[in-house]
Amino acid sequence: MKAAIIYTSVTGNTSTLADIIGEKMNQHQVETDLIPVDEFQASQLHDYDIVTIGTYSWDNGDLPMEMEEVFEAFEEEDVKHVTTGVFGTGDSFYPYYCGAVDSFRDMLYVHTNLAVTLKVELTPQDEDLHRCEKFCERLLQEFVVVS
Ligand SMILES: Cc1cc2nc3c(=O)[nH]c(=O)nc-3n(C[C@H](O)[C@H](O)[C@H](O)COP(=O)(O)O)c2cc1C
Repeated sequence: MKAAIIYTSVTGNTSTLADIIGEKMNQHQVETDLIPVDEFQASQLHDYDIVTIGTYSWDNGDLPMEMEEVFEAFEEEDVKHVTTGVFGTGDSFYPYYCGAVDSFRDMLYVHTNLAVTLKVELTPQDEDLHRCEKFCERLLQEFVVVS
């Protein structure tokens, strides 16, 4: 089983969350590659059994511009069999909290085997560690069910 985390982050919150989730996947003996969005290529989607997306939200809960390529790759490639999850950080000060997570969730639900989503307020806190663990467990359970 191979997993990847494709993520973007400007001020570090989402990359911290990606690191935590990557470490937890490794603790479950799942080899997990962390792929910053600027190193992403659509063909990589075929190299993994599990792909998770990490994104912040922008403007009115929008996708960051650099994630649009990733979003479109899922729509265009044949990834129906890939088990996916999406996590993100946002700021509930904004009217559409973590809107980019919702956009990915809706698309991944249609095009992949979506297992789980996770939203974290700004920088992950101690109480989020348990939620990250649950995120990984849910991903792995779903992968086992379909394989
Ligand atoms: C101009 C601007 C617009 C933002 N818009 C939203 C938004 O619509 N919804 C939301 O949940 N967070 C919004 N945020 C908050 C960021 O998503 C949040 O700070 C996030 O943790 C940044 O992630 P990063 O540290 O990985 O770059 C906005 C932040 C800025 C600076």
